[in-house]
Order: sequence, then structure tokens, then C-alpha cells
Amino acid sequence: MSKEFKPTEYKLQSVNTSKQFDDAGWTLDAPDEKEHTLIRAIYAKKQIEVKDETHGIYRFADWLPIHKTLEGSSAPVTYKSEGLAKHLGLSNLYITFSGYWPEKGANFVTGSFKETEAFSVGGRLNSNEKKVLVVASAGNTARAFARVCSDNDIPLLLCVPEDNLNALWFGTAIKDCVKLVVTKSGSDYFDAIHLSNLACQLDGFIPEGGAKNVARRDGMATTVLSAVHEIGKIPDYYFQAVGSGTGAIAAWEANIRLIEDGRFGNNKMKLMVSQNEPFVPIHDAWKADSRAMLPLEDNLARNQVEEIIAKVLSNRKPPYPIIGGLYDAMKDAGGDVLLANNDELEVAGKLFEELEGNDIHPAAAVATSTLIKAVNDGTVKKDDLIMLNITGGGEEKFKRENDIIYLKPKHVFDITPDVETVKDILDKLF
Ligand SMILES: Cc1ncc(COP(=O)(O)O)c(C=O)c1O
Repeated sequence: MSKEFKPTEYKLQSVNTSKQFDDAGWTLDAPDEKEHTLIRAIYAKKQIEVKDETHGIYRFADWLPIHKTLEGSSAPVTYKSEGLAKHLGLSNLYITFSGYWPEKGANFVTGSFKETEAFSVGGRLNSNEKKVLVVASAGNTARAFARVCSDNDIPLLLCVPEDNLNALWFGTAIKDCVKLVVTKSGSDYFDAIHLSNLACQLDGFIPEGGAKNVARRDGMATTVLSAVHEIGKIPDYYFQAVGSGTGAIAAWEANIRLIEDGRFGNNKMKLMVSQNEPFVPIHDAWKADSRAMLPLEDNLARNQVEEIIAKVLSNRKPPYPIIGGLYDAMKDAGGDVLLANNDELEVAGKLFEELEGNDIHPAAAVATSTLIKAVNDGTVKKDDLIMLNITGGGEEKFKRENDIIYLKPKHVFDITPDVETVKDILDKLF
């Protein structure tokens, strides 16, 4: 199944101590370090050689921590905007599109940049790994991992809130190596994460690792690699909607590598990340100049998450405080946390479709809306070099062009099940 591929050479490094070590296969933390820190991949090749489009996302394999490639990937596509750029009076607006838009060369059949993570994480996974990979998601990540693991015969347990089941749409059937379980209606992403943590306490399961997995971050970093490869320069501004902020951390890390590469400039892109009002915990922590997330009452958080349209932006425990996380990224690179409410994101989404020619995910519409506001209030200037990360799109287009089927859950768990119940059910499933 996997093409002949020479494994990428890399070491891992603690962001906190800079200590380097080998990847033991699925290392997620710095060995023997007490402080909570992200680890980073340090690639042997300092100047990236980008391969042609036929390699899909693996055209960026020099900077992916992988030892094999999987079938069916697409790389993000970057192009210079005409419609939206003219409307906003911008002379250097570049759109990086990770979604379904075959006419532009983007073939993400699950419609979001979460596919970049799934192809990178799957490429890191040892082929002899017998354990079941566990992924918790509010929707797009689950869809991406389900598709990629199904197409490449990788055993996967997906934990998703029941209210997000409509996100589990596919163009073709998902194989039985992928099992979906949900936390019952009224629960959110946080509860799905809790369920996945219980599963990972059991023998035979391994956590995908989320932001701690270098493969996940460096997969997402391909959006920036795509942009800089197309533009030839590191942009001034990076716009992205965030739930966990992992994409923005990844963008910052890619930026650091691109500076070391030496061919694309020395600047750090300002990280203009955005959230969907009223659920804005990263915004609140950033504005309070706090590394720690501010206290947020569970029920209030759940109600806010019910209100927002961009449900994928509903992470209550983002990797913001951790060393090397979003707080550090934004302090180092500069930037801001911007907001869009439901009405604003809907207007922005329609405008994008009208001016650029494809539908976009509500989360990407949040980013678009905040770009529009940043232009209108003078935060960004006419000639600034801007990367707008359209993290998902073409979903409606894909659904128009394909017959859609939905993946059904194998079990509905209570909002906070105990570990024994989880063990009983999973024993039966696997
Ligand atoms: C389409 C889309 N955009 C943005 C995000 C936020 O990504 P991050 O994990 O970088 O916060 C998500 C997360 O699921 C997403 O699906």
C-alpha cells in the first residue's frame, strides 16, 4: 500500500530545555522532564526540497516526521486572491485552501485541513503497531482520520460528541477497522476527549496525542509550506480560526524552520487567530495577558458551544499555556485574537463564495470575517503580505457532486462514563 519511501531524518527536541532525543516511535513528551512542554521535530534537511503535486501532502515530506506514505492525500493549495482581494483593496492576499476544490488542485475529500494531520500522523505510525489509535474530535478531525485510516487499513477508535454526528459524512463507505463511539447529546468536545482518555488507559489503545504529536503539528504546517512555496516569501500576517490553536502553533514552527532555511526572509508572521463568539476562551486569556486559561464554568461553556455555528472551534483545554504552545507562539511572533459572531461569519462565508467561487467551512468564515474587520479598521494595510488559511471548504460542493453516507456510532456513552463501562464496551468492539 505505501509507496517506496526513504524515512525522513529527524530528532525530537524539548522546547523547554532544548534537549534532543530520538523518537522512540510514538514519543509525545520530553523524557524525564517535569515541566509541561511541547516537543518539536528537528529535521536533518534545513532547506526543504518540495516535490511535485503527484506526491500529495508528501511533497513536503522533508519536514514531516514520517517513515512511510499513505494513499489518497492532497496538499493544501495556495493561490493569489483576485475577487476578495479586490473587494478589500488588498494587493497581496494569498489564500491557502485545504478542502474540496479539484479545479484548483485541492482534493481533500473530507473537506478540511484535518486531513493534513491524518496523513502525517498515519505516516508516523509504525506499520507493526498492533494497538488501536484513539482520536477525539468535534467532527472534522474524526472525518479526516476515519477516511485516511479506512483507506489505509489502520485500526482507529473515534470519540465524538453525539450532537456532532452530522459531521461524519463520507463519499464512500468507511471500513470496519474504524469504530465510532459517542458521548450522548448535550455533551461537547471536552467530554469526547475525556472518553478518549479513558480508552487510552486500557491495554491495546494508543492516544493520537493531539497537539503533542509532532506529526499532527507538522502536517498542519504544510499549509504554511504551501503558501511560502507559492509566494516565495514568508507572509506578514497569518489569519486562522482556532479551537485548540494547534494550527497556529504549527504555522509558527514552520515559520521558524523557513527562517533557518534562509531563502524566504527573516520575519515572523503575526498570528491573527480567531474565535466564534460567544465561545472565546483563548481570546479571554490572551486579552488578560494570562498564560493560564481563565476559569470557565462547565455549564456556561456548554451553552456557549451550543450557540456557536463553527462547532469545531469549541476546545475548552487548548494547548495555550503549555511551553511551546499558543501563548508562547503569539508572544514570540506577535499577533492578536480576533472575534466573529454567527451573523458575521455567515456574511463572510457568502462573500467568499461569491468572490472566490467555493463554499467554505464556518470556521474558515470566522477567519475571513476577522480579516475583513482587520482591513476595515486599518490593522492590516493595503500592501501587506497576507496568508488567509481557509482551513475547510468545498463541503457543499462535495455533497452536491457525491452521494453521501453517514458513519453510525457503535455505542452511545454517558457524558462522563466510568472506566469499567468503557472497558466492557470496547472489549466487545475490538
Ligand atoms: C475547519 C477548521 N478550521 C479550524 C479549526 C481549528 O483548528 P486548530 O486545531 O488549529 O485550533 C478546525 C478544528 O477542528 C477546523 O476543523
